[in-house]
Amino acid sequence: METSDCEMPGRTLAHPPAHPPDSLFESCAWFYALCREYLFRDHTPEISRALFPLDGPAPGTRVLELGCGPGFYACRLSQEYPQIHTTGVDLSRRLLERAKSRAASRSLQNCTFAHGDVHSLADASDSIDAIVVSRLFLIVADREAVLSEIFRVLRPGGRCFIAEPTSGFRTRIPLSCMWLLSLMSSSPAGKYREPRQADVMTAPDFASLIRSQEWGEVELQYDGWYQYAVCAKDSGKDPVVLADSDRIERSISWSTV
Ligand SMILES: C[S@@+](CC[C@H](N)C(=O)[O-])C[C@H]1O[C@@H](n2cnc3c(N)ncnc32)[C@H](O)[C@@H]1O
Repeated sequence: METSDCEMPGRTLAHPPAHPPDSLFESCAWFYALCREYLFRDHTPEISRALFPLDGPAPGTRVLELGCGPGFYACRLSQEYPQIHTTGVDLSRRLLERAKSRAASRSLQNCTFAHGDVHSLADASDSIDAIVVSRLFLIVADREAVLSEIFRVLRPGGRCFIAEPTSGFRTRIPLSCMWLLSLMSSSPAGKYREPRQADVMTAPDFASLIRSQEWGEVELQYDGWYQYAVCAKDSGKDPVVLADSDRIERSISWSTV
């Protein structure tokens, strides 16, 4: 059977797509899912601390994972906190299928996945309690537009956790492997929307991206592998308008990064 994907060795797609995928993540979904599972760091404890109160999230808390890929964090959080509802959003239908299988294999009832573009979210403004963004900004076409959507859909007082790799070299390895796999497959590489080289942000670029929205509170942290932002939208409860210098921007300590 002729296919147009970098298939998992030994596996053939039952229903090859009518049109070749235009995304490397769609084409090499299985490879990315392996990297996510076994190669990349699991930030679940940091995410929980950043987004939820010490006594855990309130029942009905709505959480989005943007660019969720195989749904790693949506499933982890749903499993840990059965009282919340998580939705993973991604453009890759194959990664979304993997995410759904992951949720089903864990019998998660509070975890759903939706096909969507993070540049234009389907959620209403001020409707989401918490957002998780991991390894997404190095891939998207318009970072400011995505951050603006995050800000729009978060409710006043809502929080987001963003983790972006800092090392171009280490980030390039999985992406280069995906390009290589696609070259070795029957699909002619070069038509994918993703860059050949991961566009990792410098610390000043990351800070300036985060500052492009009027957060009530921002916490930035850097380590050798990742840069993090924990942002909170003004709760609207305090009528005092803060001057820029009053905004909190501080490094925070993480016990497990
Ligand atoms: C590097 S992966 C990160 C996946 C996951 N967040 C993680 O931590 O492993 C980037 C993901 O973003 C998705 N993606 C890229 N551009 C997107 C867009 N405009 N809208 C929605 N998802 C997008 C890709 O399909 C891929 O699953």
